[in-house]
Amino acid sequence: MNTTTKEILKKIKKASDNIDIYVVGGWVRDALIKRKNRDLDIATSINPGPLARKISNVIKGRFVELDKKNKIYRVVLKGDRDLDYIDVAKLKGPDIYTDLKRRDFTINALAVSISNAIDEYTVIDPTGGIYDIKNKVVRSTNTGIFNEDPLRLLRAFRIACELKFNIEPKTKKLIKVKSKLIRKSANERVRDEIFKILSQPKSFVWIKEMDNAGLMDCIFPEIIKMKKSARNFYYHPQGLWQHAIETLTSLEEILDNLKKLFPGYEHKILNHLNQPLSNGITRMNLLKFVALMHDMAKPACAKKIGNKMRFLGHEKKGSEMIKVVLKGLRMSNKDIKIAQTLIGHHMRPINLGQSPVITDRAIFRLFRDIEDNLVDLMLLTLADCYSYRRIKVRKVVELKKQKKVVGKLITRYFDVKEKISHPKLLDGHVIMKKFNIKPSPLVGKLLGIVKEEQSLGKIKDVNDALTLIKRKLTRLKKRNIMN
Ligand code: CTP
Repeated sequence: MNTTTKEILKKIKKASDNIDIYVVGGWVRDALIKRKNRDLDIATSINPGPLARKISNVIKGRFVELDKKNKIYRVVLKGDRDLDYIDVAKLKGPDIYTDLKRRDFTINALAVSISNAIDEYTVIDPTGGIYDIKNKVVRSTNTGIFNEDPLRLLRAFRIACELKFNIEPKTKKLIKVKSKLIRKSANERVRDEIFKILSQPKSFVWIKEMDNAGLMDCIFPEIIKMKKSARNFYYHPQGLWQHAIETLTSLEEILDNLKKLFPGYEHKILNHLNQPLSNGITRMNLLKFVALMHDMAKPACAKKIGNKMRFLGHEKKGSEMIKVVLKGLRMSNKDIKIAQTLIGHHMRPINLGQSPVITDRAIFRLFRDIEDNLVDLMLLTLADCYSYRRIKVRKVVELKKQKKVVGKLITRYFDVKEKISHPKLLDGHVIMKKFNIKPSPLVGKLLGIVKEEQSLGKIKDVNDALTLIKRKLTRLKKRNIMN
């Protein structure tokens, strides 16, 4: 334990006036496996509100009433400390033993009395948590835990995935039996657990495990259709869901090999993907979710044309469907928009890769429509293509070509990023005034033309832009398109 945590614990002990209070749960578990945990949970038999206030005074933290009904209080630590916050709650039951036995997993059902927590750990362990930590096992404390809080069905996987533990077979069986209960959990809580799992490398392993336990179908019923529909028409023998998992797997392989795949650009790509979005989610986690769901509309769009099954319009439909799914998970509008853009345009880089020459204009138009999501889209495309590698239905040369296109576009994106965002030469008001045009979509169209030509280096200043507009308007007038 580092000195600042020790200092904080000493101060908490002082604030407790020798009444026994306990450090419980994840912090104790993590201390035993020497893993950093920035959140401390405290359980006490006395009224937790006044105790939390006292603690916040002695450590100069901020007092927050977290859950009035259940009497849970938070002390938020300020400054550069080892802990972010301390939660203070009342013991559930008459004593610490009863409290611990009601907790979710044995490895979390651990406590240390505050007087012991500072210099030595005499761990209170009524369910065999220390033994399970040694064996790297997540085991339920009793068979009722999932009825009490169904979110624990996901917590089991998230904790196992984060700690690189295994879920004990009987607990796994119990999860399968209880999987439907997950529908009762608050959507925000489900979202947080799913995205914490996706934030781990090799999350595909855990998505598969959760799927085997029946949880993925319960949370996202769209997946049931992906598993059933038109199985014979997909390259992957187990249908579209297998393709989805393989796309996520390939994406995670790509992320592990950025340096090899995009030499010199790996840091830029990582910086981009590590950008935080809302609710603790990063671009990378969202991209992984999109990789799973990018073809979710294929079952709805499947149509036999001649001898072939086609999925015309599945990108557009998919972009509508993902909106509903992510709204359900209470994602922010901004994040939903990113996912919609990625799914809505996910066929474009593939089509671009198939054209004999990729012109600068085509690249500009893709950049314009995709905006800051280009890197994400390129990685999605590559993962989509690489998902077929294991089943060998795509020729190696085809995959190599797609990789080349993706590499070219990613490097171009970073190289011309500044150019694209160079200063606006004209705004709509100037155009309307100079050319005596009323507000209309035409103004937007003219602005788009100016931006396109500017980014291609064909016009450089305001005069060039005005000359260009004049020429365009004359041509439009001739064609009688203007009204
Ligand atoms: N807990 C529980 N059931 C839940 C949530 C939490 O029994 N549904 C108990 C566990 O003992 C857990 C403790 O409350 O260790 C604190 O919960 P939380 O802070 O959510 O999780 P941690 O285990 O501390 O781990 P992490 O911070 O990784 O979530």
